[in-house]
Amino acid sequence: ENSAAAEVVWHKQLVSPARRAEIKNQKAACIWITGLSGSGKSTIANLLEHKLNADGYHTMLLDGDNVRHGLCKDLKMSDDDRTENIRRVAEVAKLMTDAGLIVITAFISPFRDDRKIARELFESGRFVEVFVNTPLEVCKERDPKGLYKKAIAGEIKDFTGISSPYEKPDNPEITLDCASKPAKETTEILYKLLKCTHIAL
Ligand code: PPS
Repeated sequence: ENSAAAEVVWHKQLVSPARRAEIKNQKAACIWITGLSGSGKSTIANLLEHKLNADGYHTMLLDGDNVRHGLCKDLKMSDDDRTENIRRVAEVAKLMTDAGLIVITAFISPFRDDRKIARELFESGRFVEVFVNTPLEVCKERDPKGLYKKAIAGEIKDFTGISSPYEKPDNPEITLDCASKPAKETTEILYKLLKCTHIAL
């Protein structure tokens, strides 16, 4: 393997990740939002961050469309590139939680194994998988960016739900219904669940 990791010595740091969060009066966590394109991930992620921020929490939002313009701009939508996309995002989210932040990610993250690898980077209970369970039919109908139309016409290849798989989470901490309720209501539910149980902010 072409990795330098074996020769790199891990430096013990004097300030712990827990201390970095404590100084902000919070506990770091990664809130991992997964779902189809058009399911409402980004909308919910945005509203959730807005609420946390208004309550004084120090947060960061990582979003598919944004990250793919920078950190992951060399990656496309093949299975391998999606796996690498999620690997990088998970590692960045881990660094950010080590900095004490509450990190929200909004990526399709269609593969179960990739989400599992992401989860394993975090301490137990600090990774909260949130499945935005909007049926494919509803996403197709909404088609906010016109991408489903193009994918069905064969103009976009490897499109999730059409020509590329989405593996539903088996055991997510939270499943959200974003098809029959407005995103704002769904976010309220998510916020309460996170606050009371999963991350006990
Ligand atoms: S992944 O699978 O997690 O690596 O994808 P992600 O980084 O979240 O990027 C998804 C956004 O990219 C746009 N897009 C596509 N999505 C799915 N399949 C194909 N082929 C594709 N091509 C471009 C799309 O706008 C996704 O944004 P969302 O917000 O999910 O609709």
